[in-house]
Amino acid sequence: MFQDISDSIEACAAFYGDDADAVRRYLIQGQQRALALPNRGPIRFDKDGAIHGDILKAYGTHGFYIFEQALSEAEVKDLENDLERLRENFPTEMGAPTDAQGRPALGADNKAMTLQWAKPLSDPLGGTAIANGRHQVKLFEPQPGDDAPQATPFYLAGSLQFSLACLRAYGHPGLLKMAEAINGEDFTPFHEGLFIKYAGLGAAVSWHQDGDTHWDNPDSDEDSHGFNFMGQVYGSTAVNGVWVVPGSHKRGRLDIVKMVAEAGSERLPDAVPIICNPGDVVINNRQLLHGSFANTGFETRVTVNFGFHRRASVLNVLGAGIHADAATFDEDFIAERSRVIGMAIAARQQRFPDEVPYNYAPDAKAQNSLVWSDDMQASLKDYNLMDLSI
Ligand SMILES: [Fe+2]
Repeated sequence: MFQDISDSIEACAAFYGDDADAVRRYLIQGQQRALALPNRGPIRFDKDGAIHGDILKAYGTHGFYIFEQALSEAEVKDLENDLERLRENFPTEMGAPTDAQGRPALGADNKAMTLQWAKPLSDPLGGTAIANGRHQVKLFEPQPGDDAPQATPFYLAGSLQFSLACLRAYGHPGLLKMAEAINGEDFTPFHEGLFIKYAGLGAAVSWHQDGDTHWDNPDSDEDSHGFNFMGQVYGSTAVNGVWVVPGSHKRGRLDIVKMVAEAGSERLPDAVPIICNPGDVVINNRQLLHGSFANTGFETRVTVNFGFHRRASVLNVLGAGIHADAATFDEDFIAERSRVIGMAIAARQQRFPDEVPYNYAPDAKAQNSLVWSDDMQASLKDYNLMDLSI
């Protein structure tokens, strides 16, 4: 069962003027199409302990899969508590050095990208050159209310240095087993962050595909740009959630301008919303066409985002320079960035001692077994300067 968002659908439609009926219909029909897809359920394993073949098949076909209740209630509560603590330490406004209590604000002395802000209900990326122009069209920007702030937190990059709960989620054994199934046992990190989409304020992210580096590589395939896990703290709906075009990860780089022109509006007819309850974790192929509309509804969405790559997609590759400055990722660079995997597994083991931890093969070969201590997290400061951006 999912939350009833009828009021949000009405509120959302009302922002779109003459298109209100079309928007209402799109949201409702999208929900129906989404829930008819056979790509959701708990993490399941075969008799050898590998991810069940049905899951891999559905993920391969549709480009996304929803692992229901992958995060326990206790884990979701930990995330909620961390989000509350982080929010209290956000700058009082964009660029401010202190939080509401006068403390140095979160990220104030970081070198790497941390908290990003956006104008309420805007589409800050659409139609711009940001991220090498991947957001090809600008989405409709609803008019926020007079009481809306000038800007609102939108994205927190490098989240694992700020939130122990996010770090523990990153070490989830079932999800890491899925990372292994898709990218091989020597999979590598990519980038982590929190998407923050406040009710009535959250900005849009225009239609795009995430990958950058390997589109013209003759050896590339649908998994060449890796995937993201998207853990839902409060759930995800047709109004506040990411929409995807199922199967589009197999179609190479898409001409989104043309697709929108052919559709006659930004409401791509084959797209579906990713509908989740709190605790669900989505795996989303980065080559899948996806985007989200401004959150004009009454439910806030916060997504705990963390991705992984195939080693062959990053080793000795010059990065795209989107998430961090471009660098060539040699063995040592990847090993240093991958330290966070072992740390996350250790942090998780301390919080959930009865769980069988994931065994990360590149660490196992080095006989690397860590015992978590809370001062370890400080060593992650600015770790995202080394994101494996491709
Ligand atoms: Fe994306």
